[in-house]
Amino acid sequence: MKAVTIRKHGGLDVLSYEEVADPVPTKGHAIVRVDYCAVNHLDIWVRKGIAGKQVSFPHILGCDISGTLVEGFGKFRKGEKVVVYPAVSSGAPRVSFSIIGGFGKYHGGYAELVQVPQKNIVKKPSWFSDAEACTLNISYLTAWNMLERSGCRKGDTILIWGANSGVGSAAVLLAHAMGLRIITVVSNKDSESRARKLGADLVVDRNKSDVMAETLRYTGEQGVDAVIDHVGAKTWPTSIEVLRVGGKMIACGTTTGAEATVNIRAFYSKEASITGAYLGTRSQLISLHKFMQSKRIRPIIDSVFELKDAKLAHQKMEGSAQFGKMILKVSS
Ligand SMILES: NC(=O)c1ccc[n+]([C@@H]2O[C@H](COP(=O)([O-])OP(=O)(O)OC[C@H]3O[C@@H](n4cnc5c(N)ncnc54)[C@H](OP(=O)(O)O)[C@@H]3O)[C@@H](O)[C@H]2O)c1
Repeated sequence: MKAVTIRKHGGLDVLSYEEVADPVPTKGHAIVRVDYCAVNHLDIWVRKGIAGKQVSFPHILGCDISGTLVEGFGKFRKGEKVVVYPAVSSGAPRVSFSIIGGFGKYHGGYAELVQVPQKNIVKKPSWFSDAEACTLNISYLTAWNMLERSGCRKGDTILIWGANSGVGSAAVLLAHAMGLRIITVVSNKDSESRARKLGADLVVDRNKSDVMAETLRYTGEQGVDAVIDHVGAKTWPTSIEVLRVGGKMIACGTTTGAEATVNIRAFYSKEASITGAYLGTRSQLISLHKFMQSKRIRPIIDSVFELKDAKLAHQKMEGSAQFGKMILKVSS
């Protein structure tokens, strides 16, 4: 089969489009012919490597998969359209799970075929196209989990960083459908108008205005009910400062670094809470599908690349030039 592999960690050049052996079916697993695989920031982390995290080379990236079952099992039929819930047991203490195609033992979806545990197979809802379905298993599921953890209700105000990102665009789309008042952050004019179209009430261009000042002005100095932070070190201090009394920050990412300096006094004196979010459960993925279908909303897709052009997609993500999800067309 054709696949994009890495044989070492590094820059774009370590991505190699090549012929590799098909996966050999093993007990309790299903083989999926990959139709589409979405690109996630995790793919960049795995390509570059993170200290203390292992993959065995050659490794196939790609954690966000929609495809077609090669053989049936249980209630699933051969040829059925499915998506892959990406979390598998990490086997490590104090870590919830590892992710298929991420750090861990499973190869991912930058390949025509992928082998995954049968229990990770989820029926693809007919509301979504094959291309749309691949975008929901990572960014959308995480955004959904973060919004659920925020406890926000209709009319509450939420700050969502990075409206153009996978997680940020998903969070804005879903939060709007939940009836939340949304403040979001961008870094250029094009993203500003796209974020507004997605339903954001206030869009702050962080290159032109101060996010904290604009957020406090917009909320009459009261602060926001919750913050969705996937950016990490550079945004944590502001995320904590802009919370209202009793507000909640939900964190899932470290794009700008994993170690932040925050004002602890600002945190406890407003009795705020910080909650981590790691992906979401299989049943949350199904509730996400149902929610999006009931609200008649579809994921935001920036662009579609051929599998052989995975490098171009990585380059675009590293240049932060996308708005929404980039996806790889694999076998469809
Ligand atoms: N915990 C989980 O389960 C989970 C799941 C999914 C993702 N994540 C993590 O969440 C993060 C986002 O993932 P993604 O796939 O959505 O990434 P992405 O599409 O590459 O987006 C990165 C975002 O970070 C923003 N950003 C970069 N530097 C910034 C700064 N100094 N201030 C404010 N914003 C800044 C970018 O905004 P500009 O374009 O405006 O620069 C962009 O919106 C990654 O770290 C990823 O690993 C975690």
